[in-house]
Amino acid sequence: MRDRSLRRPKGVATRRPHGPRPLQRLSLIALSTPNDISIVPALASHPAAGLNGRITVPGDKSISHRALILGASAVGETRIHGLLEAEDVLATANALRALGATIVHDDDGTWRVQGAGVGGLAEPAQVLDLGNSGTGVRLLMGLAATHPFSTFFTGDRSLCRRPMRRVAEPLERMGASLVARSGCRLPLCVIGTPDPLPIEYTLPVASAQVKSAILLAALNTPGEITVIEPVATRDHTERMLAAFGAGVSVEPRADGGRAIRLTGQPELAATDIAVPGDISSAAFPLVAALITTGSRLVIEGVGVNPLRTGLLDALTAMGANLVIADRRHAGGEPVADLIAEAGPLTATAVTAAAVPSMIDEIPILAVAAACANGATRIDGLGELRVKESDRLSAVARGLAACGVVVEEGEDWLVVHGTGGPPAGGAVVPTDLDHRIAMAFLVLGTAGRAAVGIDDDAAIATSFPGFAALMGSIGADLRRS
Ligand code: S3P
Repeated sequence: MRDRSLRRPKGVATRRPHGPRPLQRLSLIALSTPNDISIVPALASHPAAGLNGRITVPGDKSISHRALILGASAVGETRIHGLLEAEDVLATANALRALGATIVHDDDGTWRVQGAGVGGLAEPAQVLDLGNSGTGVRLLMGLAATHPFSTFFTGDRSLCRRPMRRVAEPLERMGASLVARSGCRLPLCVIGTPDPLPIEYTLPVASAQVKSAILLAALNTPGEITVIEPVATRDHTERMLAAFGAGVSVEPRADGGRAIRLTGQPELAATDIAVPGDISSAAFPLVAALITTGSRLVIEGVGVNPLRTGLLDALTAMGANLVIADRRHAGGEPVADLIAEAGPLTATAVTAAAVPSMIDEIPILAVAAACANGATRIDGLGELRVKESDRLSAVARGLAACGVVVEEGEDWLVVHGTGGPPAGGAVVPTDLDHRIAMAFLVLGTAGRAAVGIDDDAAIATSFPGFAALMGSIGADLRRS
């Protein structure tokens, strides 16, 4: 039954930011947005009185993929504690099983991976379906590229429209061949090379997935491979390779980038891995607490790798009442508890250089900006166009539907904060994108009227139990 509190929002004014008009494409998003009340929301988030409690969030998705993949490439049994048991990671586990690794899930929650050793994987008999997971497919393409057999990959509608040329190009330079759909999209086949070449490769886009694909291909390559990243991106692969005993070095460069060197054909030794809570998941209840009056929330055991904490920096710059407490280490990664209390926020500016450290948090940062005083500008958002959805346009349209004035450029966003609760009262299309779904449900907790999403299925790709967890701290989420 339709939720009657979800109404079409009243007209919203639009305005340009002060200063000279940028040269990029500028589209002012106004009422002509997808606030179509004929869409029945799958899930609606109603204004909440305050979010309170002490919670943990599921394991880090990036680290979980890597733990399974390196476990499958090691000799012996790797034990993983706190693995994210979400669709994306389970798809990677299934793909690795098809490649010959033995992966079991014990009753106590431990995952055990019996590795095949570097170069020891076998040709899968089936097409590997990575579902919604860009990380899963790109990392496994790298791993497969230096095994001398053919591996076929596919994914869901979202994954099949995402660009794979960025991974194919360095893998081809190493000697692999690829056959793909036009535009180098999935489904595709990686024909692994029996004679891989060590390369030096400078990443044309800041992408930890591409960097990691090359490093995983390098595992079964004789000689030393170098990946140069002009902007530092999450370094979980480098950290975990070292934990498995590989010879890997990371050299900071004067321009802020890094040169990563890996000596190929190491013997990886199985190890135990403790996966910290995912900061990209914690971001949703965290921002929900900061913007919902009457909230105080503690999120325990969250990974705070400095290459992932851009959101915390941006929120702090906005005056958020946010404390990073009890910093410690677990499984080679820094971990802390996050304490958030609701309070007023002021607008900030996020530079392109800062974006890789919060690449997955832009939708929820934009929601925080919508509640802040003043206009927040975020630059360097070109990569958002090729995430699970075109996230830049999904954020802009969703915010506009919720009564927030936004400007969307080719690779930038300006959010004119309302300085308090946004109107809400819209149904936002999520286009198979988990982070769009969760960001707008969070807006609903702080809004003046409920916010619905057309489909909540994608949330299971990264954050199983999201709705129940939010409910446990006081959010009012209702299923249609
Ligand atoms: C990831 C890297 C990022 C991020 C993705 C996870 C990873 O993608 O958006 O959710 O685990 O390496 P890009 O490498 O495309 O920036």
